[in-house]
Amino acid sequence: MRMVDIIIKKKEGLKLSKEEIEFFVKGVTDGSIPDYQASALLMAICLRGMDKEETLNLTLAMVASGDCIDLSPIPKIKVDKHSTGGVGDKTTMILGPMVAALDIPVAKMSGRGLGHTGGTIDKLESIPGFNTELSQEEFIRIVRDIGLAVAGQTGNLVPADKKLYALRDVTGTVESIPLISASIMSKKLAAGADAIVLDVKVGSGAFMKTVDDAQKLAKAMVEIGTGAKRKTVAIITDMDRPLGKAIGNALEVKEAIEVLSGHGPDDITEVCITLAAKMLELAGVGDFERCAELAKGTIKDGSALDKLRQMIKAQGGNEEVVNDTSLLPTAQYTAEYKANSAGYISAIISDKLGMASMLLGAGRATKESSIDPGAGITLLKKPGDTVNAGEPIVILHANSQALFEASFKELDEAVRISVEKPSETPLIIDIIQ
Ligand code: URA
Repeated sequence: MRMVDIIIKKKEGLKLSKEEIEFFVKGVTDGSIPDYQASALLMAICLRGMDKEETLNLTLAMVASGDCIDLSPIPKIKVDKHSTGGVGDKTTMILGPMVAALDIPVAKMSGRGLGHTGGTIDKLESIPGFNTELSQEEFIRIVRDIGLAVAGQTGNLVPADKKLYALRDVTGTVESIPLISASIMSKKLAAGADAIVLDVKVGSGAFMKTVDDAQKLAKAMVEIGTGAKRKTVAIITDMDRPLGKAIGNALEVKEAIEVLSGHGPDDITEVCITLAAKMLELAGVGDFERCAELAKGTIKDGSALDKLRQMIKAQGGNEEVVNDTSLLPTAQYTAEYKANSAGYISAIISDKLGMASMLLGAGRATKESSIDPGAGITLLKKPGDTVNAGEPIVILHANSQALFEASFKELDEAVRISVEKPSETPLIIDIIQ
């Protein structure tokens, strides 16, 4: 088989066979296919697409490029959740404890931030002492003991994705539905869960900017999951507005604790209850309505907060943060961003808000940058709220006052004020199963 023939075939819009896809993935992983040929095929896939069978074959070949985690020592159905990322997304820290509090084990491998905000691992590491670098044995032991662990990726999971993602990043081929879905789903399948709930974000702060594209991505991922014999559901949620009021690492841990204590913002609480209910439904706990009631109950009776406390303790962190969030790192300086006119907050553009937070130190400008755990943004107002001229809308947190100016400029573009009340849009846009 010759790589050049595979490239030409896809360039002409033809369907690739399982063997051709496997040849490509194997060659990328072992280095026998040079980057220029791999990049040429990625571009051809980007322009010509892949059908359902090709996308499944690509995903399975990527899974086979490395190790898979064996979660079979953990009894019961293991349900994983993946979010396609968004600004202020702290759902894992909230729904993991909710689901585990109902005796459904959650073994969650998470990533660091790819874009301008920290990932779940960065957020959890802002808890003093919290260790996310668990060996596979420790990870499984903690899930067996308390039903919940969140760790950074261990082992040699999907090495093909590491190479392909790095090439896509520099060849303008990230935005391809078969490539995104194979990249995400290969990692989910290798992580070993029996069922998968996908939170596909749509809007300015997300990968998919339109509902139509988000539905296509969701459908492609559900088809892969189902094709690989894992129960899979995707929920499309709005990312045109930030979720909750906190963006930044320790700030988001604090907000997750507030949600689990029953006094968090309504939007993030609603999204987490919906996602948790879907996870519970896939685990066979009951129908969706019953699972949503049970998930709400874990907040009311404190069992989800207690589960978070147990996880923090099991992973070496200071569990006291759950009772006293002042033990979390904070930034030395704060500044207020104020409204320049009166009216309604008509929009807070999520990606610009994420950028404003990154500039304060809460995210990484490059892969090598370090994260400031105390930095970030707190929203005092959300879209739809009224505001008076001069009233504070956002509080900025940073460890250097010099960082405020650039962040203010992003906020000038992020925050929109209108005379008319903006129309309300639903948070949960669609469910694909
Ligand atoms: N997240 C991933 O893991 N892969 C992609 O291709 C896009 C988002």
